Amino acid sequence: APTRYEAENSPAVCSGTIDSNWSGYSGSGFCNGPNSTGGYAQFTVNASAAGTATLGVRFANGTTTARPANLLVNGSTVQTPSFEGTGAWSTWVTKTLSVSVRAGSNTIRFDPTTANGLPNIDYLDVETGGSPPAGGLP
Ligand code: GCU
Ligand code: CA
Repeated sequence: APTRYEAENSPAVCSGTIDSNWSGYSGSGFCNGPNSTGGYAQFTVNASAAGTATLGVRFANGTTTARPANLLVNGSTVQTPSFEGTGAWSTWVTKTLSVSVRAGSNTIRFDPTTANGLPNIDYLDVETGGSPPAGGLP
């Protein structure tokens, strides 16, 4: 199972406010970043070994305009995901992304690239090291 990192729990950093006014979030709230570039949501995640990590970022975007962002791993932009409108601020969707991580602590950060800022971000699920196939290893 992935490890869940809630956006409202340290050492995660939300440059905006932790809000709870839209239902359906996990934990005690979600990160509402400012509607501007320069805001961010950052997670600190642990990987037992270097390799590919599968990220599941749960977000809501109640507008009809996608909100693109740079995805930074340990300070370097590795992808530019775009967070599409989800239909309502209370409709949460999980976007899956694959990134390379190093063994130990990694920072995973979303920096919005438009003045609309980030979507609301609920949590980051992280699966490292893959998992054995159903039925066990051959
Ligand atoms: C509304 C909504 C917020 C959201 C914001 C935005 O204010 O209530 O939860 O973060 O729009 O556009 O980012
Ligand atoms: Ca916002």
